[in-house]
Amino acid sequence: MNNREQWGSRTGFILAAAGSAVGLGNIWKFPYIAGENGGAAFLFIYLICIVAIGLPILNVEILLGRETQKNPVGAFKSIAGKSSIWKYAGALGVLASFTILSFYSVVGGWSLGYTVEAFKGTFSAFETLEISEKFFGESVSNVKWIIGYHTAFFLMVVGIILLGVKSGLEKASKFLMPTLLLILIILAAQGLMLDGANEGVSFLFNPDWSAVNGETFLKALGHAFFTLSLGMGAMMTYGSYLSNKDDIVNASYIIVFLDTFIAILAGVAIFTVVFSAGGEPAGGPGLIFNVLTTSLAKLPGAYFFGISFFVLLTIAAITSAISILEVSVAYLVDEFKYSRKKATLIMSILVYCAAIPCALSFNALEDVKLFVQDKGFTFFDVADFLASNLLLPLGGFFIAVFAGYVWGIDEVVKKLLKGDSQSVYFSNSILRSSSNKSIFGVLIKFLSPVLIILVLLYAISEGLKTDPPKEEMPVEQEVAPVEEVLDA
Ligand code: PFF
Repeated sequence: MNNREQWGSRTGFILAAAGSAVGLGNIWKFPYIAGENGGAAFLFIYLICIVAIGLPILNVEILLGRETQKNPVGAFKSIAGKSSIWKYAGALGVLASFTILSFYSVVGGWSLGYTVEAFKGTFSAFETLEISEKFFGESVSNVKWIIGYHTAFFLMVVGIILLGVKSGLEKASKFLMPTLLLILIILAAQGLMLDGANEGVSFLFNPDWSAVNGETFLKALGHAFFTLSLGMGAMMTYGSYLSNKDDIVNASYIIVFLDTFIAILAGVAIFTVVFSAGGEPAGGPGLIFNVLTTSLAKLPGAYFFGISFFVLLTIAAITSAISILEVSVAYLVDEFKYSRKKATLIMSILVYCAAIPCALSFNALEDVKLFVQDKGFTFFDVADFLASNLLLPLGGFFIAVFAGYVWGIDEVVKKLLKGDSQSVYFSNSILRSSSNKSIFGVLIKFLSPVLIILVLLYAISEGLKTDPPKEEMPVEQEVAPVEEVLDA
């Protein structure tokens, strides 16, 4: 008997999955990574990663969920057998969900805090980058501010999860995702009307190939995983609430399209403002908190833009954070037969506690550095670095290898084409059944595992360098540029 809750509609599932994909990764990370890595040149490489690796793995993840109707640990167990070591690949996902949420909810708290500041009109005083950086630095180093907003953000996420799949996840996504899209379209349109907007657009669409090197490719692949919520079972868990004949192939195209479209729109909305105010596009992680708010202060309609932008960011963070927490909640519900309420409460308390050291990384625990003292990793850095650069790609690697060599491409393709997916227009050539040599088979069996291993090697070598990876750490960035600005 399967009394597992299911999505109320196909649109509900697509919006929830797109809500998971569209998050801080699109609006906070994508623009600044593109800004630092050659604009359109990065975009081009990133799009190849999304289509060649992200899309096939997304199909497999959702399929694993739909076929087994289980959380990541249960899904691997159902197919490979209870005693198989593959269940640890699922356990890695649960661990990743825990780790990601511990820093993600802190940044979610910043967005919420900045939304309140936007309403108060605080940004109108941000006449120079120094002022906005000082404000950001003071906010995050204030324990009450950071813990308070983190707690408020977390409570919203927990509240939605407690309501369940249909009344919580689905309803929230059905309301929040269209709102997000509407706000973003208005902001991008408004940005395009500014003087000097062309420069911002051409920055995003004219490639600067000189900024590209091997690292750019690896960053693009790592970000493809993060932005599509791949590698830790979030899409698997969402897939487990689908019914057995629900379409996956077409849904995946839509999810990938929405995620990419929204990242590009966010880039347009941000870079048009930044360029028209003469700001610096390679602003790093502080791009939206510092550079954007400063640029805004110089433009007409700043008050409206500021509020809309941070509401947008908060919505994006919430719809992703619920999918991250859902992975560990589904794990407790399926594997330990806990009620949803009990599972949610236990997991939220655990994740909330794990997030405290991340929040305190900017103030009380600022000087507590993990690993080797001179490498300078705070708890926040470690959580972000571990999750985004190691756990997600590793999870993606296991999923690709599992689908390619354990489950078998034939089986995967047969199941993908089952039900409503049959009608997909180019599945016949891409996913041709009984063909390890189909494009899909080659991508899953060979290309994805090899490229992911390269990313992991890069991530490890990066972690071993003296400096922690700058692009992952807002506060490092926030402290350093003050001098740069003064020098300049
Ligand atoms: N895709 C989200 C973003 O772009 O912000 C982050 C994320 C959500 C990563 C869910 C992983 C995940 F399972």
